[in-house]
Amino acid sequence: MSWRNLPKVELHLHLEGGAPPAFIRGVAAEKHIDISGIFDERGNYRTGTFEHFLKVYEAATSVLTTPEDYRRLTLAVLEESAAHGVVYSEAFLSPDFCGGGDVAAWRDHLAAIEDAAKEAEARMGVTLRGIVTSVRHFGPEQARLTALCAAETAGGFLTGYGLAGAETVGRPRDYAWGFDCAREAGLRLTCHAGEWGGASMVADTLRDLRPERIGHGIGAATDPALMERIAEAGVVLEVCPGSNVYLGAVPSWEKHPIEVLRAREVKVTVSTDDPPFFGTTMTREWEMLERTFGWTEDDLRALNRVALDAAFCDEATKERIA
Ligand code: ADE
Ligand code: ZN
Repeated sequence: MSWRNLPKVELHLHLEGGAPPAFIRGVAAEKHIDISGIFDERGNYRTGTFEHFLKVYEAATSVLTTPEDYRRLTLAVLEESAAHGVVYSEAFLSPDFCGGGDVAAWRDHLAAIEDAAKEAEARMGVTLRGIVTSVRHFGPEQARLTALCAAETAGGFLTGYGLAGAETVGRPRDYAWGFDCAREAGLRLTCHAGEWGGASMVADTLRDLRPERIGHGIGAATDPALMERIAEAGVVLEVCPGSNVYLGAVPSWEKHPIEVLRAREVKVTVSTDDPPFFGTTMTREWEMLERTFGWTEDDLRALNRVALDAAFCDEATKERIA
């Protein structure tokens, strides 16, 4: 049996980052909003550097203003995931974009997302869980509001809290309040670090925010002592190689440090991050692991097992998916 038939687990997907460009164009047309500048002549998102990507991401997201928009977005994203054999996915949800950090507005958006997730589970066989994500470049004060949104809606569908956005804005400790608040509310924790910031950013994040997973984390690969600590602590990396290559965090697939991390027994998983922005899918990520590093079906099964073990859902859900 080829790995192509294996059900896949994905841990690192930004909900708006999964929006098919045609979906965003459709919503923009309905609302008579002109965002044509963010698309190229073939209708794909036009992105370049990470900073430019964030601008395009936020422009695309700006057309999504109501809970109903988010219900439709969730269905559109999960249709793509299911088409690539994903049976379990964790999506980063941002109260910043869903009501600006207001708890009541966030509740309405979250209910719509959860409603769509239930429909997708029944219709497409893909299970979704949400992780509230503060956006670093919106600043520590806004991060407190979004962490409160997370704490107020913790449990069940909403399993985690984390931090994304421009990694070089502020220091990890500036965001510690939100992580403490989410931890107290019973949420599991993950934080983007070491996508751009290098080994010291990963080390500072682990020390100051104490997440059990790190988004990307590839910066750790230059520091053998840090890799040893990460491996011993069992911290799981949500590696997104296609995203790293596309945005230029690493020069090529061949030079991606996932093999270095794996050789040091760091627990790695593989996800798409923002698939239509980076021209990727879970199928393509696995295909490139096979083509670039010669990963076998057994390697990919093991990769998937690590992801399921590190998932933030309850054990009953894991057993149903396994
Ligand atoms: N938000 C969406 N995609 C992101 C990425 N790759 N890094 C940081 N923040 C993001
Ligand atoms: Zn990400």
